[in-house]
Amino acid sequence: MTTLITGGTGKTAIKLARLIHAAGHPVLLTSRKGVAPNPFKAVTFDWTDLTTFENPFKADPNIDRIYLIAPIVLDVFPVVKPFIDLAISKGVKRFVLLSASQFNKGGVYVGKVHEYLVERGIDYTVLRPTWFIENFGDFHAQNIRENDEILSVTKDGRIRLVGADDIAKAAYDALFTTKSPNTDYFLIGPELYSYTEAAALLSEILGRKINHRHLTNEEEIATFQQFGISPEYATMLNHAESLIAEGVEEALVGNSKAITGTHKLRDYLLANKQLWITDK
Ligand SMILES: NC(=O)c1ccc[n+]([C@@H]2O[C@H](COP(=O)([O-])OP(=O)(O)OC[C@H]3O[C@@H](n4cnc5c(N)ncnc54)[C@H](OP(=O)(O)O)[C@@H]3O)[C@@H](O)[C@H]2O)c1
Repeated sequence: MTTLITGGTGKTAIKLARLIHAAGHPVLLTSRKGVAPNPFKAVTFDWTDLTTFENPFKADPNIDRIYLIAPIVLDVFPVVKPFIDLAISKGVKRFVLLSASQFNKGGVYVGKVHEYLVERGIDYTVLRPTWFIENFGDFHAQNIRENDEILSVTKDGRIRLVGADDIAKAAYDALFTTKSPNTDYFLIGPELYSYTEAAALLSEILGRKINHRHLTNEEEIATFQQFGISPEYATMLNHAESLIAEGVEEALVGNSKAITGTHKLRDYLLANKQLWITDK
């Protein structure tokens, strides 16, 4: 029985694929180009092209569980629902949806997908991680390299930044535990950091000063759009980030539905130092 991983070349998906492969289970990845790193098999799949939705099931008729990463479109439910319906009709029995700490069931973005999985009565788990450690090597990387800055609207708000490895481990457990959890979990990391504290840690590791510069909401929305994100999605993302300043992410510590990972920011920054080194 095969696990399908959508967003198969992304930060959490590839780590999940390695865990599934190491455990000896078959795994199939989706990718817009239909290519994946060795030793994985990929199938061409694009959320913006309905004609690609059948491809995974043509490539492997034994898919019975799916790790679902939705596209970055604010009104995502009409895009993802047809794929969930198709997958169930093809024999899929269990879904693990990657959501986020601030997306409540029935609410914005994947909140509606979460609600639909519950309504369909299918086995499911919704993973609701806080902000990723890997954002420093992805979204923040260029600005750290070129301007020695981390930009945010978070002020002194603190976050239990979580690692993609811990998210992949939670996804693996939810996919393969005998009895599906049929609930949602928050995923948090082992240590609290404000972006000012993270900038200080990165300064120490890189041997040069990295600053945390506060943005207004308007400035941040414009910055997100520079990454090709739509104005609507950028506004939603900005709202979710502004909640950090209000202590909403810190309040997850001690939440009975929170799973605490083991991967630490310092270890990630040390291991990936070259991402923020410049020639200047
Ligand atoms: N970053 C954070 O701090 C954070 C926090 C909480 C939750 N999240 C959630 O995490 C999710 C992202 O997960 P991730 O970071 O593991 O993924 P990711 O690294 O952003 O990768 C997503 C993958 O999706 C594929 N993709 C992009 N557009 C696509 C399309 N139109 N159709 C099909 N595939 C497409 C891309 O692969 P190809 O190019 O190969 O197609 C890409 O590798 C989002 O839903 C976000 O809400 C993120």
